Parts: sequence; structure tokens; C-alpha cells
Amino acid sequence: MRKKIVAGNWKMNKTFQEADDLLFEIADELNEKGRGDVDVIVCPPSPYLEMSCDIAAENDFLVGAQNLSQWESGAYTGEISAAMLHSMGVTHCILGHSERRTYFGETDNAIAKKIDLALKNGIIPIYCCGEVLAERQQEKHYDVVRSQVSEALFHLGKEALQQIIVAYEPVWAIGTGVTASPEQAQEMHKFIRSLIADKFGNDIADDLVILYGGSCNAKNAAELFANSDVDGGLIGGAALKAQDFVAIVNSF
Ligand code: 13P
Repeated sequence: MRKKIVAGNWKMNKTFQEADDLLFEIADELNEKGRGDVDVIVCPPSPYLEMSCDIAAENDFLVGAQNLSQWESGAYTGEISAAMLHSMGVTHCILGHSERRTYFGETDNAIAKKIDLALKNGIIPIYCCGEVLAERQQEKHYDVVRSQVSEALFHLGKEALQQIIVAYEPVWAIGTGVTASPEQAQEMHKFIRSLIADKFGNDIADDLVILYGGSCNAKNAAELFANSDVDGGLIGGAALKAQDFVAIVNSF
């Protein structure tokens, strides 16, 4: 049985006090409503990681970062290394998010370096891929995702690949309120799994956790998660409200 995972990507939201409140609300809500057999990961802005790790340690959820540096250490002002994150108790890191590709010019090459450094330092990458609207309209979405997956992951060995979580986030669904249909999500997740199977073998592909992201909320999560290749969600806006986030956790 593959793991089920729901991760919340807070992006650049919340003040320190608001973040503190939200972390405790999520903890309380999880205690009250339960989480079944779902792993819960909270990915706050980096200044709140230490506080998040402290609260998570008492409350049985995990903490992920939203980015890490493609360099190991040294004179890179403003950067945060994989080793720093690991030393604080951060277990996961979102990498390859479309917002970082678009606004920060992150290339497949830089993302591959980040994945390598994450793995070297005991951080599990949540690798995001997904096409923009024009690419889907031109029916290029499979080509785009094939290219993103192969560029970022195909240099890895089998053992390294077993650490990876993939998130399919169609860019046209992120923050738009337009969710991929359950059929669209399932067919792309199945396709991603087939890419991994062709390269790394069926056993590894069968164990690969593939999350869906893009306007996933408490209302539509259940029909998305009901698909055989959808193993959970990477949640943006709906992760900023504890009740909604925990309702999504309980949508399997
Ligand atoms: P929304 O859930 O706000 O669409 O964001 C999805 C996302 O980008 C998660 O990484």
C-alpha cells in the first residue's frame, strides 16, 4: 500500500503570530478529527520553520520547506541550505513549484541540483510538475510533464528515486478555482507513474506517491483522492484554514 499524504503549501502568507495560531489550530483540529492513516506535512514560510518543527514534534505532523538552495554552503547571501533545514528537523521540501519556475527563473537543471542536495541531506523532495493552460490546449501536456519528470528525476538511482514524492500541479489550476477534473488528474498521475515504471521498474513506480495540487479544497478533495493513482494533495489556499485543511486530510 502506498502512503497517503496531504501537504499544505502556505506560500508567502501569514505573519508570525498568525502562523503560530494556525499551527496550533491545525494541531487541535487533527487531534479532534483524526487523520486516519494520512501523513500530514505543513510547509510554512522559512522564518516559521523552527516554530513549526517545535509544534509539529508535539503533535505528530511533519514540516516541509518551500525551497532550498542549489548550493551546499558558503557565500550565497539570503539562501537556505538543505543541511540547515535538516538540522532544524525539517523533513520535506517542495521543489520545482511553478511559481519558482515562473517568478525566479528556476530551470530544470537548478531543480535537479536542489533535488540532489535535498536527498544528500536527508530531506524528501516534493517535486512539482505540470503544464500551463496553453500547453494543455495544444495537447502538449503529456510532453511537458514527460520532459519535467525526466529532466529532474531520471538522473537518480533507484534508491534515491524511492525517496521522492511527485506533485502534479497543472498551472492553470493553481490559485484559479479551476480544479482539474478527477479524470484529468487520474490520467496524468497514471502517465507519471508509467514514466517512472519505464525508467525504474514497476515496483518502484507502484510505491511512488503522487499528489495532486491546484484548487484542491474540502469540497473536491474526496473525488480527486478516490482515483487509484492520486495519493493525496498539495494544498495552497485551503491549507491556510485549519478546518479546511484537516477536512482535506480526512477526504480519503
Ligand atoms: P492552490 O491550492 O491555492 O490552488 O495552490 C496549489 C499549490 O500551488 C500548492 O503548491
